[in-house]
Amino acid sequence: MQEETIQAAVDKILEDFNREIDRFRNLESHSTIVLNAKSEISELKDLEIQFRGKKGRIATDLPKIGTLDPKTRPRAAVTIQKMERHIKAEIAHEIKRREAIERQLNDERESIDVTIPGRRPRPGHLHPITLMRQRIEDIFVSLGYIVEDDREIETDFYNFDALNIPEGHPARDPQDTFYTTEGFALRSQTSTVQIHAMQRRGTPVRMIAPGRVFRRDTPDPTHNPMFYQVEGLCVDRGITMAHLKGTLAEFVHGLFGPDTRTRFRPSYFPFTEPSAEVDYSCFNCGGTGCRICKQSGWIELGGSGMVHPNVLRAANVDPEEFTGFAFGLGIDRTCARIYQLDDIRLLFENDVRFLEQFR
Ligand code: DAH
Repeated sequence: MQEETIQAAVDKILEDFNREIDRFRNLESHSTIVLNAKSEISELKDLEIQFRGKKGRIATDLPKIGTLDPKTRPRAAVTIQKMERHIKAEIAHEIKRREAIERQLNDERESIDVTIPGRRPRPGHLHPITLMRQRIEDIFVSLGYIVEDDREIETDFYNFDALNIPEGHPARDPQDTFYTTEGFALRSQTSTVQIHAMQRRGTPVRMIAPGRVFRRDTPDPTHNPMFYQVEGLCVDRGITMAHLKGTLAEFVHGLFGPDTRTRFRPSYFPFTEPSAEVDYSCFNCGGTGCRICKQSGWIELGGSGMVHPNVLRAANVDPEEFTGFAFGLGIDRTCARIYQLDDIRLLFENDVRFLEQFR
């Protein structure tokens, strides 16, 4: 091969190589380098093989130096070797730049600056309903009650029949709930725990049962399909309505202060006889009338009454020997009153901006 032909072939290889390597010369913005460094290094290694490999351009486009005419051999050898060095150096240089970037990034990732001030942890706090529940529990525990935490899925027997609400009874309607597996439903009242507690513990028994209940209600500012009640039950020999009144009076004293008064209005519940709705004098105005009690001076606490003999019988308690009282209060309702919430659903949305106010 002529010297000029070799020169031309070398020039052509160099031209092609330089076009290829140019793509790698201009490193783009930091973020794209970070993304591409690894794959570009392997592309560069491939490029080197394309030119300097066994079947690369240099091997295929150029004659072996040993086969050249001894007269032109030294100069041709210099030209070819120079080109080879150029290709090798360029590739090595570009690979090095990328490896350096990778190394720097690793260092940044792994380094810890011990002088940076620590981040103050943002401690959480209890939900307002939990705070309310705990206040209620504290008062009743101090009166000798135990706290029951019972199931939320119930059979008809516990939710209705045992509570003197047989099938077809109109009291079932407003307590329509959500049905799960055949024969089971989410409890619509915590009164279910009255039966469980008597069955489990026998008599006498004093217990409260705070917990979730469920009803097929359309949500609005005063209703939610899930809400919280606290049930109370006291069964012993010689329990009378006076004990009920004294207990709830003591409870509102504990919750709202010793000047709080109670009022009992005759009412109807299938599981108590007689039954009464309980009101307490407004914690805000003391009974003179304000916005919170809607000018009436009174706020409704919940339902109560003397446990119906049929309920005692359903739990295998002899109504000739034992009597008792029961009550059911709304935890979230009381919560909404105290904090003057005009929409009870705020308590269930779990918006941190709202909840943070109740630390
Ligand atoms: N379970 C009733 C309800 O959900 C509330 C209630 C009323 C419970 C009177 C009682 C009671 O224990 O005696 O509306």
